Amino acid sequence: MTTTLTINGAEHVIDAPEDTPLLWVLRDELGQTGTKFGCGVAACGACTVHVDGEAVRSCQVALADVWGQVTTIEGLGTPDAPHALQAAWLRHQVAQCGYCQSGQIMQAAALLAEIPAPSDADIDQAMAGNLCRCGTYGRIRAAIHDAAAELQEAAL
Ligand code: FES
Ligand code: FES
Repeated sequence: MTTTLTINGAEHVIDAPEDTPLLWVLRDELGQTGTKFGCGVAACGACTVHVDGEAVRSCQVALADVWGQVTTIEGLGTPDAPHALQAAWLRHQVAQCGYCQSGQIMQAAALLAEIPAPSDADIDQAMAGNLCRCGTYGRIRAAIHDAAAELQEAAL
């Protein structure tokens, strides 16, 4: 069967079984490989994308259950106009192997949309489900604070 999804502002007609995980659709059907497969069981956060602005584990959302517009790391910003988080990630040199980082950034973007000036505790709570085998948690926290400050300054 076919399903129409809006991903990063563009409509895509997907010809795949309705129980296909969104992660498979993104990577295998559409070639959008910025979203990563880590565990496949909602335990690592590497596959995090947004559906209508909500951070979700795309390995656990079936194609038929996608309820709104999908945003992936490819749609969060562009090389010419990066999201404040992407710019902060570069300034803080957050990524080590990088595998977990698109999921980290998408989770952080949902956090800042909900809490524009998060505390350390807010960050720790929101990011607790996103694992990093390289241990970049300190840099992630610093980059989130940095991006939050930049976004707040831009809003003044
Ligand atoms: S691959 Fe989806 S949470 Fe790990
Ligand atoms: S940067 Fe290597 S797993 Fe996070």
